Amino acid sequence: MIPEHMKQELVKRVSGAITNREAAVDVMKELQRHYGWLSDEAVQEAADVLGLSPLQVEELATFYEMIYRRPVGRHVIHVCDSVSCWSMGGESLLQQLERVLEVNVGATTADGIFTLLPCCCLGNCGKAPAVMVGERLYGPVTPEGAEAFIKGLIESSA
Ligand code: FES
Repeated sequence: MIPEHMKQELVKRVSGAITNREAAVDVMKELQRHYGWLSDEAVQEAADVLGLSPLQVEELATFYEMIYRRPVGRHVIHVCDSVSCWSMGGESLLQQLERVLEVNVGATTADGIFTLLPCCCLGNCGKAPAVMVGERLYGPVTPEGAEAFIKGLIESSA
């Protein structure tokens, strides 16, 4: 259960939004930041705060690929698989990251640190292949640089 002060803050944000649906992503992201992912309980809490049904929140949650309905690692690595990144080696990058992290796409490393996911265009096409980790964009991340990229993430989060 989220702390009361957090609930009040979210209620305030929702009341300042034009529609409750408009505030939904913001609320889901805050709950995700708190729990690490959006569990069924968190969906219910989001629904309570938003004045929507859990099913309506569920529909919105499944629409946004940055909202996680399953447990994820401490860092979620989103690798863009849209056309600009694909044409610049995005697919090879994803394969290299699978090798370096020893996981398949969609999975989390055994130590729970990284989850590797594909995603749609990150709006960083000029720096393809693009990657997003947390709120931060990276690019270009080349397949050859995959190992150094992961090393850099580990070092920066140590
Ligand atoms: S196509 Fe990858 S960031 Fe746009």
